[in-house]
Amino acid sequence: MMKWEDFPRVDLEFMNEDHKRCLGLIESLLQKCDAQFECNDNNYEEIDSALTDLSDHLVEHFKSEEEAMHATGFPPYYVHKTEHDSVLQQFKSEVSSWHSSRDLKALRRYIAINVLNWLETHALTMDTVSAQHVASCQT
Ligand SMILES: [Fe+2]
Ligand SMILES: [Fe+2]
Repeated sequence: MMKWEDFPRVDLEFMNEDHKRCLGLIESLLQKCDAQFECNDNNYEEIDSALTDLSDHLVEHFKSEEEAMHATGFPPYYVHKTEHDSVLQQFKSEVSSWHSSRDLKALRRYIAINVLNWLETHALTMDTVSAQHVASCQT
């Protein structure tokens, strides 16, 4: 699991805070998946609520970045927003597959590989560039 100490930092503190929170929610969800592998009692309440927390967080996280970009007239705003939208759409579809299949391995793989890797790559690329732009407008 990627640690916050090793996670890329961007030029805006609110974004770093969101990334830290996001990493924490992912870690907590993965721990709940692992606990469910262990006890195997088919009680998915904790996983479902951790998924809801992560989903709510992503909506807010993306919205804050989009508002900051929009407010400073960042030209590639739509490129960045389109990526957020497609990640959210994929996330919703994975959650609904999980609700119907209860395939814990598939859910864990999606979160640990797709979501986590995406978050790091996205922070290093689009978030880094957007934060530089917004921060430069604030000085
Ligand atoms: Fe971000
Ligand atoms: Fe972003």
